[in-house]
Amino acid sequence: MPSIYITTPIYYVNAKPHIGHAYTTIVCDVCARFYRMLGYDVLFSTGTDEHGKKIEQSANNAGIPPQLFTDNISRLFRDLLPVLNITNDDFIRTTEKRHKDVAAHFWSKLKSSGYIYLGEYSGWYDIRNEAYFAEDELVNGQSPLGGDVLYMTEECYFFKLSAFQDKLLDFYEKHPDFIFPIQRRNEVVSFVKSGLNDLAISRTTFNWGIPVPDDPKHVIYVWLDALTNYITVNNYPDCDQNNDAHWQNVIHFVGKEIVRFHAVYWPAFLMAADLNPPKQIVSHGWWLSEGEKMSKSIGNVQDPVKYCMLFGSDALRYFLLRELSFGEDGNFSLAGFIGRYNSILANAYGNLCNRVFSFVVKNCGSRVKRPTVLSEEDREFVDSVATSLEDAISMFKQYAFNRYLEKLEYAMSLSNRYIDSQKPWALMTSNPDRVGDVLFLAVEQIYKITRLFYPVIPTSAEKVFQQLGISDSMMTGINSEVLNEFEIHSIEALFPKIDQAAKDFDVFAG
Ligand code: MSP
Repeated sequence: MPSIYITTPIYYVNAKPHIGHAYTTIVCDVCARFYRMLGYDVLFSTGTDEHGKKIEQSANNAGIPPQLFTDNISRLFRDLLPVLNITNDDFIRTTEKRHKDVAAHFWSKLKSSGYIYLGEYSGWYDIRNEAYFAEDELVNGQSPLGGDVLYMTEECYFFKLSAFQDKLLDFYEKHPDFIFPIQRRNEVVSFVKSGLNDLAISRTTFNWGIPVPDDPKHVIYVWLDALTNYITVNNYPDCDQNNDAHWQNVIHFVGKEIVRFHAVYWPAFLMAADLNPPKQIVSHGWWLSEGEKMSKSIGNVQDPVKYCMLFGSDALRYFLLRELSFGEDGNFSLAGFIGRYNSILANAYGNLCNRVFSFVVKNCGSRVKRPTVLSEEDREFVDSVATSLEDAISMFKQYAFNRYLEKLEYAMSLSNRYIDSQKPWALMTSNPDRVGDVLFLAVEQIYKITRLFYPVIPTSAEKVFQQLGISDSMMTGINSEVLNEFEIHSIEALFPKIDQAAKDFDVFAG
């Protein structure tokens, strides 16, 4: 059985989760469900990144001890998972003992391999993004990541990143798909080509971190600490990563601003510890909210929980994947959300299921059988749905989630058109023998579309399978079995249309 290990970044616990965090997690969940459906042994992890000066400051500002502060916010991230219907196998916190042990072990391994030395560091420190920058990297007095900076000098340990320039460039060349999409790959390659400085990997100016083994006045740099989470989850050092099927196929999903940490530092750390770099770093763009960057001060931070409570997690999952062209930035707007919900989930999909299933119950004794002969139109319908579903799978594998959904939507529109043109209600009098044939084909295509739609809308897809009396065991494998009969067991509306004037919307004002 092939294996895959899918990771979200671990989230900073300085503020509660918003739609941007929900997005990365949902993308990973959709992939995890998709690969399970293809028969993979999937390991899927997420969690929280809890150390560092930024967290210590946020805790101080709130007047709460850092551990309690991180416990509280980490819980918000964890509690969001069932709300979004996420099927993670692990939730890792960097303040857990299992992780502290692994991070300390990893540090010792880098040290004993000769890649860590003690020195002194001066530079502009971006507190928000936990990174140092040189004078010439600042943009209008701020770090290139947009954070405020502070000039600092400290004794610290360095990682010999400069020793990895050629090894990294060689690795990128041998693994052209290592960084997705290509523009991010190009940025990383030119960054590495421009020369790598050694990296400061310990801090002495605050305490909230994992102590450096044998020198506890230093704490481990939060990015080295955080990146290590990926091997903590995979049982390093007990499990031999280089010969582990999950590690050989590990995909890190990240937002575009943290590609450098994952595609430069992380593979260098791993190489230094004789571990193989991950298989792929897949990067996505950013969500704006109603056209602007999400920020507390503008008051436009979008809360994923509200959307799930009002419209269900399937609707939010669908919108996030459909609206944003993966890799590019996208805009989250309530109007856009309602528009796509009503036109696709309520009309194209929900109504299609409802009208076809109801017709079968009323007019075919709830049962339809595979026709023995297909007309030319039937064949054309079945073939074009099959083609668009194959296209959808191929789009999915290229992380083009919006195009994958577009292909499913096309298959829905073909099904709606087929019913409109075949007019089963008229066939009831003109050609009653054909009614069951038309309906079977319609139900069968709905079934196939739903199987592929399942990773995005699992709750509703399961409702459709229940209506069709299809057991869970038949949901694995995309093209495996052919059903020759369908029986409609029950009928349940899937996506009630959203009335824009509904009072519920008051909740968005607050
Ligand atoms: N803690 C680090 C990651 C360490 S991984 C070893 C971190 N945390 S974060 O909370 O700031 O961001 C986590 C993820 O959320 C990133 O992938 C980031 O891109 C994503 N998003 C945060 N805001 C976002 C949007 N507005 N839109 C889309 N995703 C964004 O970085």
